[in-house]
Amino acid sequence: MADQEAAPSAQTWTHRWTFVLAAAGSAIGLGNLWKFPYITGINGGGAFVLVYLVCIALVGIPIMMAETALGRHGRHSPINSMRELARESGASRWWGMVGWMGAFTGFLILSFYSVVAGWAIAYTLEMFAGVFQGMTPAEVGGNFESLLGDPVKLTIWHTVFMVMTGVVIARGIHKGLESSVRIMMPALFVLLLAVLGYSVVESGHFMEGVNFMFAFNPEDLSWDAVLAAMGHAFFTLSLGMCTIMAYGAYMPKKASISRTVGSVVVLDTFIALVAGLAIFPLVFANNMEPGGGPGLLFVTLTSAFANLPGGQIFGGIFFLLVVLAALSSSISLVEPTVAWVIERFPVSRAAATSVYCALVWLFGLGTVLSFNEWSGESAQIFGMTFFEFIDYLTANITLPLGGLLIAVFAGWTMKRSYIYKELNLSLGAFNLWRAMCRVIAPICVVVIFYFSTIEEPLMELLGMAGQ
Ligand code: PHE
Repeated sequence: MADQEAAPSAQTWTHRWTFVLAAAGSAIGLGNLWKFPYITGINGGGAFVLVYLVCIALVGIPIMMAETALGRHGRHSPINSMRELARESGASRWWGMVGWMGAFTGFLILSFYSVVAGWAIAYTLEMFAGVFQGMTPAEVGGNFESLLGDPVKLTIWHTVFMVMTGVVIARGIHKGLESSVRIMMPALFVLLLAVLGYSVVESGHFMEGVNFMFAFNPEDLSWDAVLAAMGHAFFTLSLGMCTIMAYGAYMPKKASISRTVGSVVVLDTFIALVAGLAIFPLVFANNMEPGGGPGLLFVTLTSAFANLPGGQIFGGIFFLLVVLAALSSSISLVEPTVAWVIERFPVSRAAATSVYCALVWLFGLGTVLSFNEWSGESAQIFGMTFFEFIDYLTANITLPLGGLLIAVFAGWTMKRSYIYKELNLSLGAFNLWRAMCRVIAPICVVVIFYFSTIEEPLMELLGMAGQ
């Protein structure tokens, strides 16, 4: 009965800094290294980056503090914590739905995340093996297309990544999660700085990269881009799906939430910006376009590495970095649900992990097929492939919605004294945080939702009708 692993609520991280490492490991991932550069490229650079930073400050920080505090106060898996917290404050049991929605979102995200991480595994090996050396951009593009066009290859790499994720989770909070982030996060940092140094020295176009990322051109902004920036703020900070809540449950009571959350946000934002600053100059050095979409890393950047001295090694290092970052995030997508399963049912962590990972793996085949068998129009959902649809649905809808509910719960529903005690801020700072959760963050989310999903499509429709 007294099985430690069967009671996640009884466990805490061994060190105060482990929460920072684990939460930063969750936050820093494909979102920073793969998605942020390509959506910045698609959305024209500087203006998008600015909106993203504003969303991090106004929406991301208060919600991350709320999630951590709810997790630490609840001390259970998110599904049970939310239900308990609602009961404790005399609110409806329906708040438990926030936990369920989070579990559902995590499942969806992991299903495509693993496929993309699989590309990075393939590329790490190919880079180090020198496959790309001297290839023209067209040849590199052809290589990527042939990977995407081959469901068997994609499935193999997707499987490898899911197994890696499952092994870490099955080993438990201390031996699995903690030990892996302790090695992976510092390694990631060093590798990224090496790639940045390489880009500064070798590309010869560093300032062009800086300009692209920070020059503000308001005409580049559409409501769609604003929605993408907000969605990305949630995605990159792992907010809105109770991951941070699950990690918060293992946080020692003494640790300061504002300080730890501050460190996580700074690290995550820093890594995204550094990744952009490492990648864009290399793209410009090769006279290529930054707006290439999801292939930015795998075609544009890879072509750059293919033709620069030392590209084989630094390219390999770069993709290894992507794999590590992806792994420290994927484990955080699994943990909330596995924690709930072992709380709820008399099963071992290993069994829960295996079944869960197998189901995600199966669903992930939808993403695998999106690039080949299901790439045609007949298989599209709202004009998107299966993969694009799942990505859009999670990043732009369920994460912001989950975050909105968490902010409303922490700001309006939960008893003030509980959350006040958890956050342990000065009264002024607490009131500021509460105003952000009660008013600012919800307004931002609702306004952006409204304009991007109702107003803008409506205007387009009317515009078209008027022609
Ligand atoms: N934050 C991760 C990234 O940027 C993705 C993620 C989202 C992880 C939600 C956990 C929860 O890659």
